[in-house]
Amino acid sequence: MTEKTLAIIKPDAVKKKVAGRIIQRIEDEGFRIARMEMLRPARELAEGFYAVHKSKPFFGSLTEFMSSGEIVVMLLERDDAVAHWRAVMGATDPALAAPGTIRHAFGFSIERNAVHGSDGPDTAAWEIDYFFKNKT
Ligand code: RTP
Ligand code: MG
Repeated sequence: MTEKTLAIIKPDAVKKKVAGRIIQRIEDEGFRIARMEMLRPARELAEGFYAVHKSKPFFGSLTEFMSSGEIVVMLLERDDAVAHWRAVMGATDPALAAPGTIRHAFGFSIERNAVHGSDGPDTAAWEIDYFFKNKT
């Protein structure tokens, strides 16, 4: 069944100029890119997006990193989009990510790990709304 997920190319990957290669991989994996926007998120936008992690020790560093440069936000569509995009991304820590995954190829650290993906269909719906609501 066609499903939607939210993908983000994080500032580390944009700065390394591998956004194009990541987008190519997304297309090669059979996703349709339904929406795409490049922006530099304000600190508050990053904090709202990662509010679920507010109590974690890495919250301050994570939101500073996410607002440190431009990101590419994409609404992706595919069969089993949420799980498939998570599989293509690989483990959160690039050191543990399997060969062939994006984080293995382009991640630098557990924080600077190149890409984001929604972790479930409900989260995806919330995240898509967060970035793309009221923008046509
Ligand atoms: P994401 O939400 O970005 O797709 O990543 P994820 O599900 O694989 O990992 P999650 O646990 O949701 O963590 C969100 C992001 O926070 C940063 N992080 N830093 N320093 C740390 O221990 C740590 N742990 C997580 C990463 O950027 C991670 O992707
Ligand atoms: Mg997550």
